[in-house]
Amino acid sequence: MNRLSLTAALLAAAALSAPLAAAADTTGLVVYSARCSNCHGPEGRGKATFAIPTLVGSSISAEEMEKVIAGGRAKMPAFAGKLKADEIRAVARYVKDVLAQQKR
Ligand code: HEC
Repeated sequence: MNRLSLTAALLAAAALSAPLAAAADTTGLVVYSARCSNCHGPEGRGKATFAIPTLVGSSISAEEMEKVIAGGRAKMPAFAGKLKADEIRAVARYVKDVLAQQKR
């Protein structure tokens, strides 16, 4: 990881609550903060008024998440051409292991 992305990770981590940041994989966190949090919110709670679903408590598997992220679904944009395969894997892991595990 270069110095710039490390700084970005630290800034992103500081923006989240401490328990979330402590459990976070930095690649997943950095990708999420840059590409997903504007819609799904920093804690993945979505925006009901814009029909953006919460990711908290999501029961779909990490594999299914990777498919939604790569290929998109309905109003959810596809990220296959915008993120590398390992970034998609990391952000799906972050959603599954950190955001989805929060209390509703
Ligand atoms: C432009 C807004 C927008 C952005 C940016 C966005 N999403 Fe979504 N996302 C949505 C919407 C809307 C849906 C619901 C799709 C549907 O209706 O099937 C969704 C659905 C999902 C789901 C499926 C949830 C479930 O339980 O079925 C996952 C997982 C997800 N998004 C993760 C991500 C990740 C990770 C990123 C960043 C790489 C991201 N999203 C970026 C709008 C967005």
